[in-house]
Amino acid sequence: MFVEESMQIPRKKQRMRAVVYKGPFKVAVEQVPDPKIQHPNDVIVHITSSCICGSDLHMYEGRTAAQPGIVFGHENMGIVEEVGTGVTTLRKGDRVVMPFNVACGFCKNCERGFTGFCLTVNPGFAGGAYGYVAMGPYTGGQAEYLRVPFADFNALKHEEDFALLADIFPTGYHGTELAQVSPGESVAVFGAGPVGAMAAYSALIRGAAQVFVVDRVPERLQKMKEIGAIPIDFSKGDPVQQIRNMRGGDGVDKGIDAVGYQAIEPGKSNESPTTVLDALIQIVNPTGMLGIPGLYVPADPGGVDPHAKEGRLLIPFGKLFEKGLRLGTGQCNVKRYNRYLRDLIIAGRAKPSFIVSHNTPLNDAPTAYDKFDKRIEGYTKVILKP
Ligand SMILES: NC(=O)c1ccc[n+]([C@@H]2O[C@H](COP(=O)([O-])OP(=O)(O)OC[C@H]3O[C@@H](n4cnc5c(N)ncnc54)[C@H](O)[C@@H]3O)[C@@H](O)[C@H]2O)c1
Ligand SMILES: [Zn+2]
Ligand SMILES: [Zn+2]
Repeated sequence: MFVEESMQIPRKKQRMRAVVYKGPFKVAVEQVPDPKIQHPNDVIVHITSSCICGSDLHMYEGRTAAQPGIVFGHENMGIVEEVGTGVTTLRKGDRVVMPFNVACGFCKNCERGFTGFCLTVNPGFAGGAYGYVAMGPYTGGQAEYLRVPFADFNALKHEEDFALLADIFPTGYHGTELAQVSPGESVAVFGAGPVGAMAAYSALIRGAAQVFVVDRVPERLQKMKEIGAIPIDFSKGDPVQQIRNMRGGDGVDKGIDAVGYQAIEPGKSNESPTTVLDALIQIVNPTGMLGIPGLYVPADPGGVDPHAKEGRLLIPFGKLFEKGLRLGTGQCNVKRYNRYLRDLIIAGRAKPSFIVSHNTPLNDAPTAYDKFDKRIEGYTKVILKP
């Protein structure tokens, strides 16, 4: 019935299916209005793939100010369907992948490559994104169609299925860039979720000699072993001690936090937002660097730690000073890396898709969210197929 109708009615009069947030631990696939061109430099993209991210889970769990009704989805790829009159580089039918950041390309921060902190797309806040609370009025792409603003800048043409270039591969790479991972170095990555896996993979691509990856999810640790990293299971004891034991007492040159504020305390199962930062300050050798793509929030009213509720973390800052450690953090500037990472894929030197665990029809999104949130049944990276 629906199919027959859709053959007769022009697309713009239809309503599309989208993943809509209904409240804590509940998403539904519902009909919402199709996006429309709002500015001459917009395109409308027919979504072919949109991944579920660890960042979506913060909203899904009701930990953010996200209100019911928001459409999720910031890791988007598809085919250009409609082109605004001011667009010069894209045509209907082009296959494109979008950075999760919405950026203008011409502000002071975009000019310097800091597209994660664009000053014009989200008034009152540095940085915009699709389908994300506080990141501007941009509807998410876990849907059939998506409006892409400043499309000449934000849509990167590609040949194949490169959905991981929207966020996860560049963000993992960003972790290694923040820590300036260099050939021959030893690296400890905390978290073997998609971001940690891509950080470990990027560290190996950059020539690191030894890459440890800490997590407790067996399927995720197994994948790390397969790419040549050394898995460390934190449910089996203090990860810092385990790494030191394997290095004859020594620490590592660089550390990456790909966990963020929802970290689990090793040996227990409660949340402890400082445990990974603490461990990194212990395990990274003096003069080393920490890359922190894992997300921390200015306030976490839903959190368990009384300081973290107010966005304050108790970390051994004196130790950090004593060791002369440097650190970098923040949103990934995807546009800064994704062209080069795409070319690594085309050249056959990178194949980040090993992290994709499930290709799922859009209608099954509620189940996928539930299982990904519980990190069960091998759910690591889900690509939704509208
Ligand atoms: N900076 C950016 O631009 C950016 C972009 C995307 C995602 N993120 C953030 O990166 C983080 C990871 O994202 P993801 O998609 O990989 O999510 P994820 O939640 O799937 O992965 C986190 C992993 O950390 C593990 N973990 C929990 N406690 C740990 C501990 N104490 N030590 C080691 N591992 C621990 C979990 O078992 C899980 O496998 C999230 O906070 C997400 O919001 C940041
Ligand atoms: Zn993401
Ligand atoms: Zn900008």
